[in-house]
Amino acid sequence: MAERVTIQDLLRKKQQLQKISMITAYDFPFAQMADEAGVDAIIVGDSLAIVVQGHDTTLPVSMDQMVYHTEMVTRASKRAMIIADMPFLSYQVSNEDAISNAGRFIKEAGAHAVKLEGGGEVAPTVEILTRTGIPVMAHIGLTPQSILCMGGYKVQGRTEEAAKKLVEDAKRLESAGAFSIILEGIPADLARQITAALGIPSIGIGGGPHCDGQVLVMHDVLGLFDRFVPKFIKKYANLKADAVDAIRKYREDVESGNFPGSEHSF
Ligand code: KIV
Repeated sequence: MAERVTIQDLLRKKQQLQKISMITAYDFPFAQMADEAGVDAIIVGDSLAIVVQGHDTTLPVSMDQMVYHTEMVTRASKRAMIIADMPFLSYQVSNEDAISNAGRFIKEAGAHAVKLEGGGEVAPTVEILTRTGIPVMAHIGLTPQSILCMGGYKVQGRTEEAAKKLVEDAKRLESAGAFSIILEGIPADLARQITAALGIPSIGIGGGPHCDGQVLVMHDVLGLFDRFVPKFIKKYANLKADAVDAIRKYREDVESGNFPGSEHSF
């Protein structure tokens, strides 16, 4: 069995200019597929609120629901590093909340790290979690938990001032102990600048080709989600259409009496 990917492996990949691959998963079968496909890391994203639970934003998903899904993913995966996404209000209220919620992902669900959104303002939280022994992935740029303040899913860091702030945020998060950082929805040149300024690996999603690695939502990659399709997505399969087609054929077989046949009967 291949050994589990660690945060040191991700750092080594950055240093050796090898790209890091990461994808979301929310349950056993999808995590097993991601693991078998050989990705470095699987993130149980709070995007599950949108692609699994059917909400319009990531805001409603609860800690208990995230723990439930993370546990299924860790049970399925043998090699990929598993990162659990801290949902809205699970780390913003107090350090005590942040430690006990992040700790649940590690102790109850078997995750290897947590991720949280925010710039310099969450650096103290990153520091306290890291000191507690919980590896933290940071996430800046388009941070979906701030959708109400951002006024929609908009590319961030377009002005000189906003770009400068993102570079400073990234450096503060690295100093606070983050082992990696997601750069979401920012111009490619800014992502290149941030990546070059950091010793820790950057993982892009809508951050262009110069990041140290990339992450996408599983349901986008497989063509299982079509309510909206941002520009940065590349669809590698069309499983929703294939599934609808398969279920339609099954329904037609049942209605016409073609299924079950004698080969399916006892
Ligand atoms: O919620 C999520 O899935 C994420 C990743 C895509 C980074 O934040």
